[in-house]
Amino acid sequence: MAELTDGTNTAKVEDGAEVKEGCKELGVVFGCEDGLCGTCLVEVMEGMDNLSERTQAEKDMGVEDNNRLMCQCKIKGGRVKILY
Ligand code: FES
Repeated sequence: MAELTDGTNTAKVEDGAEVKEGCKELGVVFGCEDGLCGTCLVEVMEGMDNLSERTQAEKDMGVEDNNRLMCQCKIKGGRVKILY
């Protein structure tokens, strides 16, 4: 079981699963859920290597560095800390 945290609250996510539901538990706001609107953009503070590769939608939007779209990410395992 993987963990998604904002430093205060933590959501459990199955290894290999999308992080979307866990993010919603933490209060991340979503819009299109399809990599088009940028609403779910967060900064990954720790554990970037535990997330899936950047998707084409993220690349098309120019999402770089520690930023990721939470509607596009799966978690491989371990712990990921986000700031939103
Ligand atoms: S919810 Fe629109 S880009 Fe993620």
